[in-house]
Amino acid sequence: MSRRPLVGLLYNPTVPIVLDAIGERVDFIEIVPDRLWHDLGIRARHRFRRSRSAVEELRRYAQGRPLVGHGVGMSLSSTMPLDEQLLDEVVASHRTLRYRWYSEHLGMLLAPDRGIVDARPGMGLPLALDDETLDLIGGKVRRLGAALGTRVLLENSAMFSAPLHHDMSEPEFFNRLYRLTGCGMLLDLHNLHVNTRDRGIAADDYLAQLDPDIVVEIHLAGGDQSIDPRADSLSRPMLDEAWQWASTWAPRFRNLVAITYEYRESHHRRRGLGGIGHELELMQALAAGIGEARATGMT
Ligand SMILES: [Fe+2]
Repeated sequence: MSRRPLVGLLYNPTVPIVLDAIGERVDFIEIVPDRLWHDLGIRARHRFRRSRSAVEELRRYAQGRPLVGHGVGMSLSSTMPLDEQLLDEVVASHRTLRYRWYSEHLGMLLAPDRGIVDARPGMGLPLALDDETLDLIGGKVRRLGAALGTRVLLENSAMFSAPLHHDMSEPEFFNRLYRLTGCGMLLDLHNLHVNTRDRGIAADDYLAQLDPDIVVEIHLAGGDQSIDPRADSLSRPMLDEAWQWASTWAPRFRNLVAITYEYRESHHRRRGLGGIGHELELMQALAAGIGEARATGMT
């Protein structure tokens, strides 16, 4: 793999417009596999209805670029067993699209009672950061990695409510999960920003506590500042603060292989190609700087 981190985009229906116009700024594409099918729920006889046209469009526009999977449905932190049906569907999509690696979120996205179909709170819930949760997630991460035969990353989530009890900080939890399972971290700097503002987390302390070897991918995004608590809406330009963190910290992460820009379709309409292109340009410059420093042995 290249010593220079790749710059990618999280795929949405407007990404083809970006690829057509300024595709040279996009090295890889990240896909939410859950958007490639309709999930009719665990009680449905034929639960997953695949969108063949979505997969075909994706392949057409990827044009040989590496693809990366970024799942939103596993909720590995929930206390119920791994959703084996969903896992099978993710594995099937991996067979078709050959993800370089696969990520999910640390936050809890499913309520524990699987008797309720689609029991989703609609936002990432915080979890208890203790040994029990570490064992629970560690087991599922191993199972997911073995089923996919590819590396698994977990992303820090934006927390919309007060945290549950903690026996360890979130960075320490990620560090221990890495030592236990080899699971890397997808560091989302916008989510960190949300937690800085809404949950009082000190960003520099958080970043300094992370074992620099665990960060494999960074997510950059812009959220909506007009609502409180600030949502992970991914609909605005990148915040200066998050960009500063990226510029300062990304060069220190020796195993960083990818920097990904997340935006929603609405962001494309708001800022247009120029705005998205500008952010991709900044990311490419950051990646190039890291690549040069690595080549000269400065990191
Ligand atoms: Fe993210």
